[in-house]
Amino acid sequence: MTKTNIWRVEQAGDDQLPSELKEAASQLREGGLIAFPTETVYGLGADARSTAAVERIFMAKGRPSDNPLIVHIAQRSQLDELVLPYPELAAALMDRFWPGPLTIVLPLRGEVLSPLVTAGLSTVGIRMPNHRSALELLMQAGCPVAAPSANRSGRPSPTLAEHVLEDLNGRIDGVVDDGATGVGLESTVIELEGEKIIRILRPGGITKEALQQAAPHALVDSASTEEESNAAPRSPGMKYTHYAPKGELELVNGAPEAVVAYIASQAMEAQQRGEITGVLAFEERLSAYEANRVISLGSELELGSAAHLLYAALRELDEAGVQRIWAEGCTEQGIGAALMNRMAKAAGNRIIHV
Ligand code: TXA
Ligand code: MG
Repeated sequence: MTKTNIWRVEQAGDDQLPSELKEAASQLREGGLIAFPTETVYGLGADARSTAAVERIFMAKGRPSDNPLIVHIAQRSQLDELVLPYPELAAALMDRFWPGPLTIVLPLRGEVLSPLVTAGLSTVGIRMPNHRSALELLMQAGCPVAAPSANRSGRPSPTLAEHVLEDLNGRIDGVVDDGATGVGLESTVIELEGEKIIRILRPGGITKEALQQAAPHALVDSASTEEESNAAPRSPGMKYTHYAPKGELELVNGAPEAVVAYIASQAMEAQQRGEITGVLAFEERLSAYEANRVISLGSELELGSAAHLLYAALRELDEAGVQRIWAEGCTEQGIGAALMNRMAKAAGNRIIHV
């Protein structure tokens, strides 16, 4: 067991942050494992140059070692020593979206990073998070920081420091608690093919539409949730069943009336069998359901709130011991693409059209 420190900074003013985070940054620099908030989810950080430190990430999470980690930086000047020359298109996307929830896979420069970070690939995923605590911590640590989501492997990503502690208390050196994260789903991961093709490997907070608008002359390529569930994985991490709740989840698509009728009857039958049931539904139809736990994802007209709420909802269903779960599907426009991607993963690709 390791003693896990908690640095509570939510109430701290921006001018107080540097001194509040000093100890966390020095532990990170000395090979510690420090969880910290970003605008997407909480990350579990370690000095990306140190194999000993990065090894501890995989152990604490129980993560397969062939799944590469994202490297986090605080300033563009840190890039040069990490990557080889990259397309102009990448630079344009950094200008537009950094700091922000966009991870760009770039050609790795040989010497600096621990080989564990990239799982032996010749590329590295890099991002600059848009969050005051993350940026301050990265700045003070002064090193590139490898950080996967700060959950045990197979659990939903943490959107609160409490979630980090649920999974990792006693396994990591500390957590910076700056309250709830923003987007609530992990960053968009892209790779580029020359100057013309942007391939979305994992949908996230930077939407396909936003990428297309920022790069009107490029082709933005992404698999739909359905294609994704049938295809071989392109990003190493996408082949693992992620984010799965303990109960069996089914994702239900279709016209609203049909979705309501299907879920309501399935839930009733399950309850008659004595199973504990849960429904994840949009505000518009919440009252139509009877189940042991009916959780709102907010309005379907504002899917940002569903993204923000999803992982906490999945944890709540676990805690309630729910055995059967149905989730309403939504459009794959905008942030809906990332939301459907994560719900499909939580469902282990049990997706039904009614
Ligand atoms: O929002 C986020 O990205 C969060 C916060 C903490 O920054 N981090 C995160 O890390 O989600 P993780 O390790 O849970 O997910 C990293 C994803 C995986 O799907 C992995 O396969 C992919 O990025 N990835 C990393 N390096 C890659 C590379 N060189 N090529 C292709 N995919 C890569
Ligand atoms: Mg993760």
